[in-house]
Amino acid sequence: MESLLSAVIVLLLVSFSCFTSSEALTRNKGNITVKWDLMSWTPDGYVAVVTAYNYQKQRSIPSPGWKMSWRWTRKEVIWSMVGAQTTKQGDCSMFNENMPHSCTNKPTVVDLPPKTPFNQQIANCCKGGVLKPGLESAFQISVGNAGDSVKTVRMPVNFMFTAPKQQYICGPTKKVTPTRFITADKRRMTRALMTWKITCDFHKAT
Ligand SMILES: *[C@@H]1O[C@H](CO)[C@@H](O)[C@H](O)[C@H]1NC(C)=O
Repeated sequence: MESLLSAVIVLLLVSFSCFTSSEALTRNKGNITVKWDLMSWTPDGYVAVVTAYNYQKQRSIPSPGWKMSWRWTRKEVIWSMVGAQTTKQGDCSMFNENMPHSCTNKPTVVDLPPKTPFNQQIANCCKGGVLKPGLESAFQISVGNAGDSVKTVRMPVNFMFTAPKQQYICGPTKKVTPTRFITADKRRMTRALMTWKITCDFHKAT
């Protein structure tokens, strides 16, 4: 009985120290966090600002830069984007008046170059995909066929973040507390309608 008890205690201690050391390790290495802030509803979807934060202390994303991709779970389309673009339009043949920016089920997004005209930029966009430690990269996306309320929208899934010669593994998309924003004059607080978050950890150099 006594030996069983001490075995259990040893096991507990070992698992506890494993847990804390692996946690400390990931905290030191940092991560890439991607946040989707839904800013407004549209007749058939929403407008979101997607921001990637490089929380890695040492590792930069070099040129030709990051790519992000995900899978839609329904028939979502991307009506338009500001500050980034998808690599493929996909099959938009069911649309005849307004043409979406992308109709693929698994869009891949790349950043725009720094020389992008100012009227096609948003804050923190257009760095040619280069993302230095501690900095962020953002784009705006207008999603259609997407549900138009907190209850009906669906998060993108199977998120992937790729960088030249670096492999990342992303966790699931999670619904988190909506981001709060403060206006430039600091006199008004606003908040996102919904916020989704994905964390990607560096896996290996390729
Ligand atoms: C990602 O890094 C940030 C900043 O260091 C940290 O606050 C956050 O907890 C990390 N997320 C995960 C899931 O490791």
